[in-house]
Amino acid sequence: MTSKTRRPAKTKPAIALTVAAGPAERGPVAGMSADEAATELECLAREIARHDQLYYQSDAPEISDAEYDSLRRRNDAVEAQFPDLIRTDSPSKRVGAEAAAGFGKVRHRVPMLSLGNAFADDDVVDFAARVHRFLGLGEADPVAFVAEPKIDGLSISIRFENGLLVEAATRGDGSEGERVTDNVRMIREIPHKLSGKNVPNVVEVRGEIYMSHADFKALNEAQAAAGGKIFANPRNAAAGSLRQLDPTITAARPLRFFAYAWGEMSELVSDTQHGMIEAMRHWGLPVNPLTRRCRTTDELLAFYNDMGEKRAKLGYDIDGVVYKVDRLDLRDRLGFVSRSPRWAIAHKFPAEQATTVLRAIEIQVGRTGSLTPVAKLEPVTVGGVVVSNATLHNEDEIARKDIRVGDTVVIQRAGDVIPQVVSVVLGKRPQDTQPFHMPAVCPVCGSHAVRDADAAEGERGVVRRCTGGLICPAQAKERLKHFVSRLAFDIEGLGEEKIEFFFDEGLLRTPSDIFTLQDRDATSNAPLNSRKGFGAKSVDKLFAAIDARRKIGLERFLYALGIRYVGEQTAKDLAKAYGSLAEFRKAVDAAIESGKSSEAYADIDNIEGIGEAVVDALIDFFSEPHNVAAVDALLAEITVEPYERLTAVASSVTGKTVVFTGSLVRLSRNEAKAQAERLGAKVANSVSKKTDYVVAGAEAGSKLVKAQELGVTVLTEDEWITLIGT
Ligand code: IVH
Repeated sequence: MTSKTRRPAKTKPAIALTVAAGPAERGPVAGMSADEAATELECLAREIARHDQLYYQSDAPEISDAEYDSLRRRNDAVEAQFPDLIRTDSPSKRVGAEAAAGFGKVRHRVPMLSLGNAFADDDVVDFAARVHRFLGLGEADPVAFVAEPKIDGLSISIRFENGLLVEAATRGDGSEGERVTDNVRMIREIPHKLSGKNVPNVVEVRGEIYMSHADFKALNEAQAAAGGKIFANPRNAAAGSLRQLDPTITAARPLRFFAYAWGEMSELVSDTQHGMIEAMRHWGLPVNPLTRRCRTTDELLAFYNDMGEKRAKLGYDIDGVVYKVDRLDLRDRLGFVSRSPRWAIAHKFPAEQATTVLRAIEIQVGRTGSLTPVAKLEPVTVGGVVVSNATLHNEDEIARKDIRVGDTVVIQRAGDVIPQVVSVVLGKRPQDTQPFHMPAVCPVCGSHAVRDADAAEGERGVVRRCTGGLICPAQAKERLKHFVSRLAFDIEGLGEEKIEFFFDEGLLRTPSDIFTLQDRDATSNAPLNSRKGFGAKSVDKLFAAIDARRKIGLERFLYALGIRYVGEQTAKDLAKAYGSLAEFRKAVDAAIESGKSSEAYADIDNIEGIGEAVVDALIDFFSEPHNVAAVDALLAEITVEPYERLTAVASSVTGKTVVFTGSLVRLSRNEAKAQAERLGAKVANSVSKKTDYVVAGAEAGSKLVKAQELGVTVLTEDEWITLIGT
């Protein structure tokens, strides 16, 4: 980095800065002792890193270019005099921080999935029973599990080719993460080269990066002394330290790693989880020493209790334990449900609770106009995080728990879940409290707010909704926030705050505005880089991030539209069924044209996972000319790419359409569906001429009759299992 790329400081600091001492005040280099030089190099490294951070990441420099340059020259001069004292995190070694416009993206060759959760012992019993049932085993047939501590850090995938570390990526949305290779190379516990003879050509190690309690404490102390960011907990500290554009900052942070899984492997060196982990240990990777093999549910639960007792003394955070089926061939048969493997589960420790005072109840207006009461709390630390907001869900919940402003309340927080108000400590209720009443008008636009009456939420829904629709600015903002969110367009640098700002400034109203922002900015008389809080660098970065999203997958696009009931899974189901946006639009337009009892309506309804509520919501959305115009304007700016079908395992049922009906014994309906899809079959809801097989369980009704009428092949559950060969 040279000063030529830096602009003059935008703001002058109001207070004297500890870092602003010029070379003259620091004394001549020539007469320095080695101790003094070491101390000064340490200070300079810290100071320069802080200014880089302020300049490049916060876009809020505190010193001028000249002052900055003099710090760097001073550092160079001291290093020239004491070359042995050059630090690993020396500013003179740092290259390219200014060039990195965020991290590059990496598509995971094998998706990084999450785990289903168990909270109670019964959930674990159910998990084990499900595994047995799915595999067609009796309760008494043993299935070995591996039980591991669940490390509370961030997951990472590290790729080794011919034994050498070539790439590392964060989990991201599971399909695509951020390339953090240089940073991961800075973690001492992670070898750059795997040792041993039996290392396959391609090894993708997956595991958790975390920070120990002792290191976390020391880091925060150092940060406090240097006026840097204080981290709320070790997980945030680990994540913040890994996601540094400048790897030398990561190098100075004490990160650790445990390997517990793998992605792509050119060869599996074992046929069990414990064998694979053992191999990783031989290759020089850190693995958790507390991992155990268990044969019964009782052993799993004993492990959980044991970890619960050891938890406080481990020296790092764990938030539960993970159970995994040990044999890899059994895992292949078990497969996945949605984003989680059926062969593993996380058994979480109970949520942490605290009591605090409820200061106020605020109403938030969501994307679909829902009014959500939010508790504003006296800040309190729960499980290492300071909590000042918690959800109150809806007005019925508030009435049921009789929660009033001024009450002392019990709140709880579990993992990433939004903190909740659990109950009121009635003994501490002040005298003059009043029951809470939900407003009957939207607090943002003043339109009537009425309670839903819709099929999905029962007779009278619990949600009160603003009827302002398109005129309600709160809804419009929330729709835009949803549009740019992680599972939708995921535009880096365009977070919730920026959306608020652009909306309030009148620069963004609908999604297409995001993609025309740069052109409009070029001719604006108040361009972004002239505004407070923006610099040329950050504006360029933002435009680059927007441009990077001009191509988007169909499933993300459909999710981003924010159509009611079209969440992540439904968007994926629709994308999978139609493949391209053109086919999808054709199907919806046909349904709009021919109405509810038409074949076109039934065709959408017939997609597995899609029900009437979704079809109606699609019809409502695309019947509204304003929405169609907004989508078309967007399509003038972007390209929607066809759905990428995961290559299913070729099988006897690949390409066939199957309908499951009646109650199945060996599999649940979801399990049967997932398994069929993995084998390349299409699963439909209802029977038609296009159906190849109807798998009929006990008490099959009208679908079986229809199959017989149409002459469709009907199979029993056992015949189906024989056909697919599991
Ligand atoms: S296995 C396909 N094992 O928990 C399953 N995950 O809630 C891959 N985690 O994203 C994960 N310790 O970040 C596994 N021993 C362990 C773990 C573990 C922590 C995290 C991981 C994962 C999350 C799922």
